[in-house]
Amino acid sequence: MSGRLPLLLVGAGAMGRTWAAALEGSAAAELVGVVDLDVDAARRAAADLGRPDLPVGADLLEVAGRTGAAGVVDVTVPAAHHVVTQTALRAGLPVLGEKPVAATLPQALSLAATADVTGRLFMVSQSRRWLPEVDALRAAVGRLGALGTATVHFAKAPHFGGFREEMAHPLLVDMAIHALDCARFVLDAEPVTVWCTSGNPPWSWYAGDAEATVVVGTDRGARLVYTGSWCAPGAETSWNGAWRVSGEHGTALWDGDAAPVLALGDAEPEVVDVVDGPREVRGALAAFCDALRTGARPWGEVHANVLSLATVEAAVASAATGQRVDVDELLARAHATAVADERHDDVRAALAGWSSVRAALAG
Ligand SMILES: NC(=O)c1ccc[n+]([C@@H]2O[C@H](COP(=O)([O-])OP(=O)(O)OC[C@H]3O[C@@H](n4cnc5c(N)ncnc54)[C@H](O)[C@@H]3O)[C@@H](O)[C@H]2O)c1
Repeated sequence: MSGRLPLLLVGAGAMGRTWAAALEGSAAAELVGVVDLDVDAARRAAADLGRPDLPVGADLLEVAGRTGAAGVVDVTVPAAHHVVTQTALRAGLPVLGEKPVAATLPQALSLAATADVTGRLFMVSQSRRWLPEVDALRAAVGRLGALGTATVHFAKAPHFGGFREEMAHPLLVDMAIHALDCARFVLDAEPVTVWCTSGNPPWSWYAGDAEATVVVGTDRGARLVYTGSWCAPGAETSWNGAWRVSGEHGTALWDGDAAPVLALGDAEPEVVDVVDGPREVRGALAAFCDALRTGARPWGEVHANVLSLATVEAAVASAATGQRVDVDELLARAHATAVADERHDDVRAALAGWSSVRAALAG
């Protein structure tokens, strides 16, 4: 036996193939089967990996039983995240799921409560958090003292085709969540209020709003200002955006690609050390396997991840009304919907027992 964790891949689409390759190359995990509603897609993914004999199927529990899988990597479409993850957790299988945690905030709370009831780990992979440069930026920000304003400027002009060009808020929902999640980690701060304005420039090839500015007030007093566009040809930023964090003792800069730079007072700016490690989904996979072995709570554990989705939902709500959104009020409304919609009695009872969503998420 290899001693590697046998994992089932659920969802064999574009991103599923990235995960299949990461699982194949992992020393800690082993791909034992592929599940997709479209079984031919699962079969093609296995064949393209050079493993045409890999068990495949459309039913997660059936393939898990057949293969002895000890966990699930969920790379299905966001609308399926709730059903796939809840099914796996209730069968005793820990889950590593692609972002977003779920399609809606009430569904995300349902999954946090399901993890509580089942005692199984559900970790959300926000792949950009698992860049070693992001750890280095957090270390640099840790030397700034009290924080003032952090800005992230994102400007790209990709032509994806497909669902992103049909969404009402492609930039906020599909892309900004990466920066908003990283910012919680980098600033070590949680969102309290969110204001957003969004729009779509006349030359946009997106149906929904491809531009947005989000202002997040945090529990550290620091403000995060995220400005992004998916319709900004010329002089594009990196995929991670350009970061500037100002604090009491100086400023940390990151272009989203190279090592961050720290400028303290009048001192010469210094390039921050980046400790090499597994990147993006490989980093998430390593953290997941490590957490299952040690019991550590990884970044992206469902309770901890919910506030990243909440920031996005708050931004979308604010863009619609022009009003600043109080995150605790948004969470309270989502909690009421989660209790009303929950179909499992034990999960509904767990949700109903939360006196405060913020406290329940803090674990
Ligand atoms: N981290 C990143 O940078 C990044 C990049 C792209 C996509 N993603 C995320 O990855 C996920 C998948 O995106 P994608 O682009 O691969 O989508 P996709 O549409 O290419 O593939 C999704 C697959 O899931 C399958 N599926 C849907 N419902 C299912 C169910 N109930 N059970 C089993 N299979 C089911 C579909 O048949 C399809 O093959 C999304 O959550 C997306 O947000 C993340």
